[in-house]
Amino acid sequence: MAILSLMLVLGIESSCDETSVAVVKDQELLSNVIASQDDVHAQFGGVVPELAGRRHIEVVFDVAREALKQAGVKLDQVEGVAVTRGPGLVVCLVVGMGFAKSISWARKIPLIGVNHLEGHLFSILLEDKNLEFPFIGLVASGGHTILCLVNEFGDYQVLGQTLDDAAGEALDKAAKVLGLGYPGGREIDRVSKQGNARAVEFPIAFTRHGELDYSFSGLKTALLRYVKDHPESKDHLADVAASFQEAVVEALTKKAVSASDKSGVKRFVLSGGVAANARLRKAFEKISRKRGISLFIPSLRLCTDNAGMIALVGEEKLSRGMWDDLSLDARATLSLENWK
Ligand code: KG4
Ligand code: ZN
Repeated sequence: MAILSLMLVLGIESSCDETSVAVVKDQELLSNVIASQDDVHAQFGGVVPELAGRRHIEVVFDVAREALKQAGVKLDQVEGVAVTRGPGLVVCLVVGMGFAKSISWARKIPLIGVNHLEGHLFSILLEDKNLEFPFIGLVASGGHTILCLVNEFGDYQVLGQTLDDAAGEALDKAAKVLGLGYPGGREIDRVSKQGNARAVEFPIAFTRHGELDYSFSGLKTALLRYVKDHPESKDHLADVAASFQEAVVEALTKKAVSASDKSGVKRFVLSGGVAANARLRKAFEKISRKRGISLFIPSLRLCTDNAGMIALVGEEKLSRGMWDDLSLDARATLSLENWK
């Protein structure tokens, strides 16, 4: 893919529960340090925003120091600082934003606000440059499930999205119902490998609003009902988890295939934390092979939240002369379509 970047950019990501700082130069990842907060949130079974924000402020300097060290660069060599502007938890975003602004101000280098979803869409470019436009992108994470047509850098058309829970949120809630560990999506993935995905028939997410939209709240209710009506289900948790996961996987793959059929675009990018799911990766590989679709899925570390993807998009924006001033805000919601 021909994009223009040729800069050394520091990326900062703090939209949820990962504090990450990365260094990217000419679209190559020089470092990508990620400090997970699983230990902070495990006892609550989900991310507690205020605790997440507090942990970000504690560790962000160490994470940045380590990212520079691993990249073998000094702060005064950095030409731009890219930071996640949104969507995300504001109490978390402002930590990364404040940190980025202080670097931008002290070093007099451009500050570049980046849409987190755009980061997920392009993270694959950090390890595979063969991706071409247009492509269908599916970002499935704890906060989002968005299917979009990417015509070119900055030109995005949202084709469908979740009307209620995000795919990762559904998996996390299911893990909680089943008494599995934290983070839930990863646990469901692990446990399901021993289970029979056809053991329980859960409804595939169906929505009337738009054919390419998703809805996962009905599935969650179906699971709650199933567990209540089948107390013996705790003896075959792996089967229940695998069946639930299968319903999520089927919804995600079916809509992506419909988007490809409708648009005639035969290139898929799958990204976001849920794209780390082994069964989902396999299902996309199978259907893509069958349909002659070129499939791009980042390695696990680039699927989940990381600053490398933010630095990559930041570098691209910077090389196009697009940056922000120090009054840039942080946004809980930020549409992909109103790009600037
Ligand atoms: O992209 P991400 O790191 O953060 C957000 O932007 O939300 O995604 C986190 C989500 C969580 O819901 C987590 O449970 C899910 O991704 N996740 C997984 C796996 N690893 C992380 N879901 C299914 N299988 C996995 N292996
Ligand atoms: Zn994310």
